[in-house]
Amino acid sequence: MGRLDGKVAIITGGASGQGAEEVRLFTKEGAKVVATDLQEEKLNKVVEEVKKAGGDAIAITHDITSEQGWVDVVKKTVDTYGSLNILVNNAGVFSAGNAEETTLEDWNKVMSINAGGAFLGTKYSIPEMRKAGGGSIVNISSISGILGFGAAAYNASKGAMRTFTKNVAADYAKENIRVNSIHPGVIVSPMTNPILEVKESRENFENMTPMPRLGEPIDIAYGALYLASDEASFMTGSELVIDGGIVACKGC
Ligand SMILES: NC(=O)c1ccc[n+]([C@@H]2O[C@H](COP(=O)([O-])OP(=O)(O)OC[C@H]3O[C@@H](n4cnc5c(N)ncnc54)[C@H](O)[C@@H]3O)[C@@H](O)[C@H]2O)c1
Repeated sequence: MGRLDGKVAIITGGASGQGAEEVRLFTKEGAKVVATDLQEEKLNKVVEEVKKAGGDAIAITHDITSEQGWVDVVKKTVDTYGSLNILVNNAGVFSAGNAEETTLEDWNKVMSINAGGAFLGTKYSIPEMRKAGGGSIVNISSISGILGFGAAAYNASKGAMRTFTKNVAADYAKENIRVNSIHPGVIVSPMTNPILEVKESRENFENMTPMPRLGEPIDIAYGALYLASDEASFMTGSELVIDGGIVACKGC
């Protein structure tokens, strides 16, 4: 028996890194998954791989900043699988720079993808979760949503996801719609690969992480699986930090 048997999930950013790992793990655990991303070819590959392994998933090319895109994704989910129980707001972008270095254009872009995308996904998923008698929303924030290190716009967007999580958790708890955030530390993925390829940066991140390794996408996927499943049925508004101990020592 799978831990997500009978559940229908939307996972954004499913083409790459953590999102792709979540698509693989959720389908392995019995969920029917609607995987979305901007990167059509990579996304189709992930979904084909999952189907070959016996999983049930479809791919939708989708920009999470598009309101109509969300209306269409939620409709297609329900038309295909009959309901919606889980949303993982995983897609996101990083943009380097402190407050002076960040342009208003960069700021607005990062905020609208990371925070705005999670907002739109939540807004359009809740009515279907209500019809299903409840649901679970998992917002992939970051340790940059807790600590001040990272980059100005990225920190702000991930902090917004963190407190938006608590707002939605409080507003919809009575309807059995749970919302939690995950705060990954440094995870090896296409997002961080360009930074980790620089020896000094990699060493810097390794030194900052108390555990003797950086994170892998599967480390985060297991956390998302728990929060999405009924095992976490009394958990809402919480922060799951998966970072090898960085936050525990305040970013040492
Ligand atoms: N890698 C890390 O160290 C780390 C740490 C903390 C948090 N995170 C967060 O985890 C999430 C997943 O990151 P990852 O490491 O797997 O990175 P990744 O770059 O491998 O994956 C991000 C995915 O999001 C998609 N995406 C970006 N903008 C989009 C948009 N507008 N619409 C739809 N899809 C879009 C990309 O195409 C990509 O497939 C992100 O939200 C990221 O901020 C990553």
